Amino acid sequence: MSMTILIVDDEENARHNIGKFLTAKGYEFLEAPTLEDAKGFTKRGDADIILLDVQLPDGYGPTLLEDANRMPVRPPVIMITAHGDIDMAVDSMKNGAHDFLQKPIQLEELEKSIRRASEIVRMRRELDHLRRAQQQEHDFILGKSSAMQSVMNQAQRAANASVSVLITGETGTGKEVLARAIHSLGSRSDKPFIAINCAAIQNTVLESELFGYEAGAFTGAEKRKNGLMEVADGGILFLDEISSMPTDMQAKLLRAIEEQAFRRMGGTKLIKVDLQILAASNRDLKKMMDEGGFRDDLYYRLKVVDLHIPPLRERKPDIPELVGFFMGRNNPRMGLNIQDISPQALDALIDHDWPGNIRELKNIIERAMLFCDDAVIDLAHLPAEHVKAL
Ligand SMILES: Nc1ncnc2c1ncn2[C@@H]1O[C@H](COP(=O)(O)OP(=O)(O)OP(=O)(O)O)[C@@H](O)[C@H]1O
Ligand SMILES: [Mg+2]
Repeated sequence: MSMTILIVDDEENARHNIGKFLTAKGYEFLEAPTLEDAKGFTKRGDADIILLDVQLPDGYGPTLLEDANRMPVRPPVIMITAHGDIDMAVDSMKNGAHDFLQKPIQLEELEKSIRRASEIVRMRRELDHLRRAQQQEHDFILGKSSAMQSVMNQAQRAANASVSVLITGETGTGKEVLARAIHSLGSRSDKPFIAINCAAIQNTVLESELFGYEAGAFTGAEKRKNGLMEVADGGILFLDEISSMPTDMQAKLLRAIEEQAFRRMGGTKLIKVDLQILAASNRDLKKMMDEGGFRDDLYYRLKVVDLHIPPLRERKPDIPELVGFFMGRNNPRMGLNIQDISPQALDALIDHDWPGNIRELKNIIERAMLFCDDAVIDLAHLPAEHVKAL
């Protein structure tokens, strides 16, 4: 993934020269003439490395360190100091600045410093991914039904081989959970997992979200923005609710996936990426394809491995384990210690049809625990429609 250097300097000439140099060395850059602009970029996470002039028209450069240090992947800050600013430079180093360079800037030194900073960014990114992966570690439970065993077996193969996967299943069956599991099982687990919900994003915005844009690509595109394909580089891009993607966008996506390269909107540079694509749908894509709503070339490209998660009503033997899992997870979170469920209540849960699948079961357990005053969940703690079968 490319590194974006934010050049904070009120002198246009200085920004221009440094920018030209960085581009030639394969870096990307953003420019901020004021402290306020610099803070905007920093807080949005647009800058991987910050090159910071000390005296700015609207304030004192080093105050930016605070904003930088608050980011999950902290961008290294290289201070540009004028002659005599040594005390300030020392102070800034104590406050977490990465390095300082004296004016006039020697480009060779600048490059060395940026190369070291890039290494640090890479390391911080990896640590950030590991931390996130760890937080998600206990979010998945398999169940013993043979259907799920087989899904998981194939998921492990897909993770090992790093191939495209199409995950289908009714709402609430755990498609997103499975996608994240594939991420944590495969060789890309220490790289990003980026999810985009195609149904939640307006069609007009989808393209700019995926591919990003250059400044001036369209009205309102004031500053360059990286697309999610770029953010996910090296890792996994999860296209959720892919059936909602308009067909013209499907064509652009297919090209990007096949070539593992794309251009930002309004841009000419071809950006190469290395991505594993996972997609999910709760609609029947095959049927949509026959009706012309989904491109068959994209369909076959996505379903190198086809994972169907059966609805919960078809794998009822998994219910007891899921119930135990949710109870165990909720106890510490809700400050409770509910250890058991009565046989009658469990029977009622097994009898239910679960149109909302695991999501519904999870909510019912949480609700039951909320209403339960002793150590055992019983029929009385379940909603009427979940017990009427008895
Ligand atoms: N195997 C599982 N183990 C633990 N929790 C699960 C499992 N499967 C699903 N869940 C939980 O059920 C809920 C729904 O899961 P998820 O969002 O992955 O479903 P989905 O198939 O993507 O649904 P939708 O089609 O509505 O987007 C989540 O809260 C998730 O944590
Ligand atoms: Mg989902």
